[in-house]
Amino acid sequence: MSQEQRLREQALTDRVLASFGASENERLRDVMRALVEHLHGFIREVRLTEQEWSTAIEFLTAVGHITDDRRQEFILLSDVLGASMQVVTVNNEAVSSETEATVFGPFFVDGSPEITYGDDISAGASGQPCWVQGKVTDTDGNPLAHARIDVWQADDDGFYDVQYDDGRTAARAHIFTDTQGRYGFWALTPTPYPIPHDGPVGRFLEAVGRSPMRAPHLHFMVAAPGMRTLVTHIFVRDGAGHLDADSVFGVRDSLIKDFVVQDPATPPPAGRDVGGREWARVEFDISLAPN
Ligand code: BEZ
Ligand code: FE
Repeated sequence: MSQEQRLREQALTDRVLASFGASENERLRDVMRALVEHLHGFIREVRLTEQEWSTAIEFLTAVGHITDDRRQEFILLSDVLGASMQVVTVNNEAVSSETEATVFGPFFVDGSPEITYGDDISAGASGQPCWVQGKVTDTDGNPLAHARIDVWQADDDGFYDVQYDDGRTAARAHIFTDTQGRYGFWALTPTPYPIPHDGPVGRFLEAVGRSPMRAPHLHFMVAAPGMRTLVTHIFVRDGAGHLDADSVFGVRDSLIKDFVVQDPATPPPAGRDVGGREWARVEFDISLAPN
């Protein structure tokens, strides 16, 4: 590239950067300047063609067109580009031995039913019964009594209740820890499922040879006064082969747990009758960082 060409490109970047100088919002100015630096740097680095830019605009337009109150394709795009997970990482700075955070996902619903120790969250959602227990502490190991734990998950067909036609609530609940910080409830052994992939994000994944599958997981959100609210999942150890290729980059090694399958003859906790089926159990001790 000629020196003249390089100077022209840099002069344009510099003009755009300078255009934010009058903004009174310092944060907005800083964010926009960094965005323009990276955007121009990217265009210049890959020598983006006009055809490619137009394809990118058409793609974003399609992402907008499929988005409505029930379908948020922009979040999905952010998820598959690892941007959602990077925002989580930046905003949950490692301070000590606290449990790691991961993506929130689109399937949390406010106002889930409250359960108590030993109850079952499935409410008819299909899957293998799974006993989930653990304790919630601060990073020094002190128990956190009355911490709120929200849990939600897909059934073994890969659907959350919000994707059912009949509006019923299933496989989601919240529970409070006891005075020792302990909790325990029945859920379902998580199975893999695809993120919605019948739109532009699905076509993008196909174009780059990636799978839409999420590694099998159970969602948690844990809140206690004075502590940083934790949004996370636990993942099934073998992950049915999806742990290394989770479509939204949510897997952290520390969140991979042993879901140990139990013989039907083993008495299930909390007096549960599993109808002679196999069941599983998993332990998840949760440590919250201070606020
Ligand atoms: C989920 O885990 O529920 C999820 C996360 C990101 C995109 C789609 C689904
Ligand atoms: Fe999920």
